[in-house]
Amino acid sequence: MKDTFEAAQVIPVLIFDDPTDAVPTADALIAGGLTALEVTLRTEAAWAALAAIIERYPDVTVGVGTVLESSQMERAKAAGARFAVSPGFDPDLAGLARSLKLDYLPGVATASEVIRAQRMGLSFLKFFPAEAAGGIPMLKAFASPFRDIVFCPTGGIGPDNAPDYLAQPNVACVGGSWVASSADIRQKDWAAITAKAKAAAP
Ligand code: 3PG
Repeated sequence: MKDTFEAAQVIPVLIFDDPTDAVPTADALIAGGLTALEVTLRTEAAWAALAAIIERYPDVTVGVGTVLESSQMERAKAAGARFAVSPGFDPDLAGLARSLKLDYLPGVATASEVIRAQRMGLSFLKFFPAEAAGGIPMLKAFASPFRDIVFCPTGGIGPDNAPDYLAQPNVACVGGSWVASSADIRQKDWAAITAKAKAAAP
């Protein structure tokens, strides 16, 4: 999972209000060169959006985000999601992802959470909410005690600070909603999404 995300560099965090926006948004992102997409389970439309993207792009790395409940993890696996992401760390969810053989990126924001995740054998973690939880200084501080942990910072990242995050040795990729914002999706501004994806793509 880390290698796939590292190659993708930027993971768009997607929030769909209308499932018919899902495929055009994926078209725009893929045209811009992004290869891993996260559909968040924050709206009613999320599952239909996920299914539509997976059907159109069976070979693209499409996963679900905002996984808070076991039932969501199970449904994500059944729907064909390639990975799951949570904003925080919960050992039960991590154990379930492992038993389902679903790649999993749980969120951490403190040293204690990193220790708990590490104890479960996880070494690739979402750092969330990155900017609010200390940003790059926090990642630098984590680097010394947690030598084998690699992060995907998310939360408050945009075109201006993404390069600085990606330059950190313990960062494999960044995630964020800026590449395909809710506003751009709502306005069906696919050209804007492709332009932002191109600017973000490796
Ligand atoms: C996430 O779940 O990763 C965040 O909501 C994305 O944060 P952003 O909207 O600040 O990019």
